[in-house]
Amino acid sequence: MKLAIVGAGYVGLTSAAVFSDLGHTVYAVMRNRAKMNKLQQGDLPIYEPGLEEVVRRNGAVGRLIPTLDYSEAVSESEVVFLCVGTPSLPSGEADLSQIDTAVAEVAKHLQSYTVIVNKSTVPIGTAERVRKIVKEINPSAQFDMASCPEFLREGTALKDTLEPDRVVIGTNSRRAQELLLAVHEKLPGERVLTDIKSAEMIKYASNAFLATKISFINEIANVCEQVGADIKDVAYGMGLDKRIGKYFLDAGLGWGGSCFPKDVRALHNIALTNDYDFKLLKAVIDVNNDQRYRAVTKVRQAVGGNLDGQEIAVLVLAFKPDTDDIRDSPAIQIIHLLLKEGARVRVYDPVAMENSRQKLSGVVFAPDATSALEGAMVVLLATEWGEFKDLDWQSLKQVVAAPRLINGRNMLDPIKMRTLGWHYVGVGRP
Ligand code: UDX
Repeated sequence: MKLAIVGAGYVGLTSAAVFSDLGHTVYAVMRNRAKMNKLQQGDLPIYEPGLEEVVRRNGAVGRLIPTLDYSEAVSESEVVFLCVGTPSLPSGEADLSQIDTAVAEVAKHLQSYTVIVNKSTVPIGTAERVRKIVKEINPSAQFDMASCPEFLREGTALKDTLEPDRVVIGTNSRRAQELLLAVHEKLPGERVLTDIKSAEMIKYASNAFLATKISFINEIANVCEQVGADIKDVAYGMGLDKRIGKYFLDAGLGWGGSCFPKDVRALHNIALTNDYDFKLLKAVIDVNNDQRYRAVTKVRQAVGGNLDGQEIAVLVLAFKPDTDDIRDSPAIQIIHLLLKEGARVRVYDPVAMENSRQKLSGVVFAPDATSALEGAMVVLLATEWGEFKDLDWQSLKQVVAAPRLINGRNMLDPIKMRTLGWHYVGVGRP
């Protein structure tokens, strides 16, 4: 089948790569010429493990076609997926301007029957909004709307897309449903066939539930710190209960990234605008914000109560391992708080340095982890990026001014670190 995918971010590009790999011909519709030219050469605008190879493989045989041109992409395709960004407005509401712009272009070029699918996370009712825009611009267009939310995670996007737990197809049209079942035919996972609004809600509810699970375990970790229990054992013991499940029970500096913060805020806002005060979600957001401040308190306490003039090293700037994405990254927010208190901050990240330069001024960007640690009074290891586990922490004691480590995601073994002579503080660990 021929498909058009509008947007070449994590969701759009991964979907384009996977659908083309499954044998479809996919137009990846972009708006930035420089990025499009690069993608044509196989250079990706984002960092995602394994994705470049799949993009290159399918680009080389003409199954993945990067383009700026809506006319060919839309008129040739049976299904158009909208995968553009839906960031938060200051009110928490999702900003749908990128959807509106994309739909206006799609509408102009619809020729034969087409299914327009929202893959971006969009507020409940967005499919209806898109339908109206298309009808206004192109009253004779033959099309149906659908919602197929994407559940991929950055860092494991390819695997998540190739092995989904479920494929949600929300549409009120039998014809659209059959086409979408055919598009996804080669993918495993249970099919959830539902109406559009329920499909839109499944995505928000899933992300909000996962964020709630993390805020919950972070609060349990905070109580563990007060009572002397170990969150690692507590989470393990809880996770063995199948009703709870072992995933998303890792305590840390709080959730961040391109999805949870905006989606949780958006769902809270959707509820409010529909006359419902979603109190639990408000608490989930507050707990998450507080988790950043707790980390700053730990760093401050480690240097005796005053951060002014103290050298602090921060390892990993991305919001989680294996990505260069720094959107709503706990590390970046914590660095801003440290700078505000007068700390001098040196940072290193394996892949997110370029992205971070625009967000962070007044810090030293070190060329590697060891240089970042030079003269540090405290080291904050923000996430569980694997390569930092294997650092020679014994030798690094000679590099820092004082061997104090705050481990934001409990990746290192406290007993081992203390045996090596480090003052070690994790999250929720005695
Ligand atoms: C998330 C959803 O998992 C995915 O289904 C959706 O499509 C997009 O949003 P992503 O943001 O890429 O994916 O990352 P994820 O691995 O879910 O982590 C989100 C945040 O939660 C990160 O900041 C991560 O560090 C944090 N997290 C995750 C925890 O603090 N503890 C955990 O146990 C798991």
